[in-house]
Amino acid sequence: MSEYMGFLVFKGKGKCIICHTLNNQVPNPNSPEDQPERLPIFTDFKYHNLGIPKNLKNPWLSMPPEFNPDGRRYVDLGLAENPAYYIGTAPYKVAKGRFKPPTLRNIAKTEPYGHNGYFKADNTFMSLMMVVHFYATRDVPGEGWPPLMLSTPENPTKPWPAPEVKDATFL
Ligand code: HEC
Repeated sequence: MSEYMGFLVFKGKGKCIICHTLNNQVPNPNSPEDQPERLPIFTDFKYHNLGIPKNLKNPWLSMPPEFNPDGRRYVDLGLAENPAYYIGTAPYKVAKGRFKPPTLRNIAKTEPYGHNGYFKADNTFMSLMMVVHFYATRDVPGEGWPPLMLSTPENPTKPWPAPEVKDATFL
């Protein structure tokens, strides 16, 4: 029952299906198997910048310089890393920090979450809660992780850090 209620939120108030779509939006007219309602693919094939903070615990940041010459200053620019986007051009700036919505199939088995693994808490349930809480409170002053209702004097709520890459479309 709670799974079904979550699904209703996913399709409804949560608006998750806008990006993690349940339909193939490009039906194949030649195949009865390949119709919209048959193929939940969980991506809209677009690119978005959710404003995920930098993951300071990302092991990549401490890789030797022959692999990661930028060291701790490394930033994953997402779509803008594609060489088709020429550095300095307007499309490059817009592409910076954008990622394609990944599938959410078997999501409970693919921790940590986010392209840089920022969403990692004590256990899988809490990591997924971290993702949803981020969606819900990213722009709410005073909110962060752990959620205000779960914070304790030993583990107080820390506000969400700034996005790793600011969304160029809002600059
Ligand atoms: C604006 C489009 C958009 C909406 C709306 C959206 N998502 Fe996402 N979601 C993304 C993108 C893009 C990523 C990948 C972000 C990244 O790694 O930088 C993502 C990542 C995730 C992840 C992590 C997946 C992984 O394997 O790391 C989860 C879980 C998730 N979304 C759940 C949800 C839920 C639940 C909702 C509704 C409350 C939702 N999303 C709404 C675009 C969206």
